Amino acid sequence: MSEVAKLEIEGKIIEIPVITGSENEKALDISSLRKDTGYITLDNGFVNTGSCSSAITFLDGEKGILRYRGYPIEQLAERSNFLEVAYLLNFGKLPNTKEYNQFSDKVASFASLPEGLTKIIEQYPKNAHPMGVMSAVTSSLAAFYPEFLDGPLDGEQRERAIAQLMAQVKIIAANFYRQTQGEAPVKSDPSLGFSKDFLTMMFAKEGNPIDDEVANALDILFTLHADHEQNCSASTVRVIGSSQANIFATIAGGIDALWGQLHGGANQRVLEMLEEIQKAGGDHKKFIAKAKDKNDGFRLMGFGHRVYKNFDPRATIIKKQCDLILEKLKIEDPLLDIARGLEEEARNDDYFVQRNLYPNVDFYSGIIYKALGIPTNMFTVMFVLGRLPGWLAQWKEMREDVTAKIARPRQVYTGERKRDYVPMKDRK
Ligand code: CMC
Repeated sequence: MSEVAKLEIEGKIIEIPVITGSENEKALDISSLRKDTGYITLDNGFVNTGSCSSAITFLDGEKGILRYRGYPIEQLAERSNFLEVAYLLNFGKLPNTKEYNQFSDKVASFASLPEGLTKIIEQYPKNAHPMGVMSAVTSSLAAFYPEFLDGPLDGEQRERAIAQLMAQVKIIAANFYRQTQGEAPVKSDPSLGFSKDFLTMMFAKEGNPIDDEVANALDILFTLHADHEQNCSASTVRVIGSSQANIFATIAGGIDALWGQLHGGANQRVLEMLEEIQKAGGDHKKFIAKAKDKNDGFRLMGFGHRVYKNFDPRATIIKKQCDLILEKLKIEDPLLDIARGLEEEARNDDYFVQRNLYPNVDFYSGIIYKALGIPTNMFTVMFVLGRLPGWLAQWKEMREDVTAKIARPRQVYTGERKRDYVPMKDRK
């Protein structure tokens, strides 16, 4: 007989099926609890709630493990490339040469934007936050590809949507950046590879091509961000997609969720925080004290994680890349010293140690983006480009699951009980 847990409610014993994942993690399947008992579960912020079963990403926060489709993130960062990782996440296996070429050709076939959309991007104010533009323009793709609007997509359409968004979202980002610089868009050249093509569209000048090592460092950064199981934006994508909303609206929702400073928006905030510390004469002790003060809303940005309670394996790799890139570009950034000082101080402070607060993926990534010439308000856009294949894979997995239901949580109501309407003239 399969394993069950027993729960006693109002003198009645209820058997709850135990679900075991492939890494032996356990869950209680409470899907019929309300039907059987009238009770629901309550879990603020979904701290202890599994929203789905998924075969994409495995994460063990206590041991600092992150694997995509079983492959350790360290191996993928060192040996794979971002487009291959996108294939892996979405199709469940490492592609052979033919599969990889077919996938990159398909992505390459969407390496331009509809003309109308290029014109729309030109209309945004230069000082608009790029994340708002990313979300709005991604959502607007629905206006140009109405064939994606008719109900759930079949397998072929899903594959097309994945390739199309992998190609077009980075063009939206680069085109808007060029617009803010008063410069015309540069045509995408997918033969350069995902990251070199993106950097070329952003920055390349005649006779001054993007350095391969620099492009490779960005590719590693994107790979590290590519998926992170049921985080806030991936869950948003699943929730929106569960209503069978179109793929562009679904991904735009993921972009909006990522924008928040407790999620992807933290990378922008980290750099702003480091600059503030620099302006204050480098006194990071004051900021540590502020972060510990419960009457002060300030948090040490780039520190802490809902799931990692030991170390964030992505942060370890990024820190190494950060040193490499600064050395390669011969940049001496005093912010790096401030970041190192802040990390050391926090690692030896009881407040942070007791709460298992360590640098996360966002702590050092901003210093790399800054070295690459990416403006601070575009840091979260870089996270979008990295996380895109993960959102697509989570959406694809959900849409392929014939048992998937519309996401519709319940609540415990704490408002007024029934009362009668009072005409305005009789109200106090
Ligand atoms: N600075 C100071 N205190 C903190 C911080 C921080 N960065 N993070 C958590 N704490 C404290 C928090 O005040 C609480 O203390 P107490 O137990 O005394 O009330 C305790 O640590 C637990 O915090 P929590 O808010 O319950 O933890 P959470 O799992 O809900 O939040 C988090 C996780 C990432 C939102 C949070 O650590 C945070 O706000 N970090 C700063 C923002 C950040 O860097 N976000 C990027 C996350 S990694 C990239 C991504 O996946 O998006």
